[in-house]
Amino acid sequence: MTERKKVMCVFGTRPEAIKMAPLVRELERRAGLESLCCVTAQHRQMLDTVLEAFSITPDFDLDIMEARQSLYTITAKALLGMEQVLQRAKPDLVLVHGDTSTTFAGALAAFYAQAPVGHVEAGLRTYDRYSPFPEEMNRTLTGDLAVLHFCPTAANRDNLLREGIQAGIYRTGNTVIDALKTTVRPDFTFRTPLLNRLDYRDKKVVLVTCHRRENYGPPMEAIMTALRRLAQDCPEVELVYPVHLSPVVQEVAHRHLDGLENVHLIQPLDVLEMHNLMARVYLVLTDSGGLQEEAPALGKPVLVLRRETERPEAVAAGTVRLAGTDEEEVYALARELLENRDSYEKMAKAVNPYGDGRACVRIADAIEYYFGLRAAPPEDWQG
Ligand code: UD1
Ligand code: UDP
Repeated sequence: MTERKKVMCVFGTRPEAIKMAPLVRELERRAGLESLCCVTAQHRQMLDTVLEAFSITPDFDLDIMEARQSLYTITAKALLGMEQVLQRAKPDLVLVHGDTSTTFAGALAAFYAQAPVGHVEAGLRTYDRYSPFPEEMNRTLTGDLAVLHFCPTAANRDNLLREGIQAGIYRTGNTVIDALKTTVRPDFTFRTPLLNRLDYRDKKVVLVTCHRRENYGPPMEAIMTALRRLAQDCPEVELVYPVHLSPVVQEVAHRHLDGLENVHLIQPLDVLEMHNLMARVYLVLTDSGGLQEEAPALGKPVLVLRRETERPEAVAAGTVRLAGTDEEEVYALARELLENRDSYEKMAKAVNPYGDGRACVRIADAIEYYFGLRAAPPEDWQG
């Protein structure tokens, strides 16, 4: 029997883990492939809850996280850690995901070891190098290093074609939709007591998340002020905000929002609780990339707390709106959706521009094709 090809998934933060977990599982099912998993642990607690939810035990754990870590330390520690892992494991292919510092460092380390790189969630762009920062540059550089590009949508593929990448592009859908199909259940019971107690029918439960580095400082202050005003002016609102563990975010969120009865600042949720909460809320306010993909699939309107987005598909479908980071604008757009039924109904429709739940099957098929283990490439997702 010929030796199985070693495919190593490398990830480090919560969103990468959520989106790579179903792929790790799919690779394990393929007889011709050996699935290896290396985590940098750029996030520690927020990564571990995902590993637990999907029952994944990494083969390698670089454990790099530090409090208030800088882009330099994340990148340097991940790169050095990967050198050792690559020497020991000698993978035939390294898969990285998205646009974090782990993504770029993982791809660069693999390139130095002359291991081919596959980029999952490839081709997203704003074409503004400082927004999102540093993600736009991370994903662009990762695209240059990769030989296989797994693009969620047609627009993502077109970005790569315009940049001159000609081979190895597959349009697969986003693996987050694969994950979502396994997590949401109508009879779900939350571990967090508050989430079982909330009145999702008669109150307007608004889910908030906010963490982006380019929002640190004045934009985040403005967003938090708008949230405070909303909670004070709209008694029918229950604002649920699982606060990112970044000390920068924790400080701003608590300073602005502590002490309000209808604002619930809680610990980050595990992915099962998060997806099931999202399925029940009225509205989502977020600067997250992942939430912009998940909420539309669940029929929930989203106001994006950013100036731009690399995910224009749901904006075009009408379920996501760019709110920016100006206090008045965020406040006014949120109030409109809380009070104007027509505006709300226009946005509250389930759309799936990001996938059909079979992205991981297509990616694994493309990898088998790359290694000559399959006669034909997978058909592109046509959604
Ligand atoms: C990172 C990614 C960002 C992604 C986000 C997802 C980079 C540069 N940024 O940003 O693209 O959208 O993850 O959430 O790669 N912390 C903990 N425990 C945890 C996680 C974080 O304490 O489990 C704290 C630490 O103090 C850490 C800080 O949060 O230093 C910031 O984490 P970091 O990964 O540097 O930045 P994020 O804002 O999470
Ligand atoms: N998420 C979670 N618990 C939380 C907040 C987010 O499980 O408390 C999930 C969310 O459903 C999505 C992913 O984490 O799948 C998004 O991560 P994040 O917003 O941190 O990063 P981004 O997507 O912006 O890179």
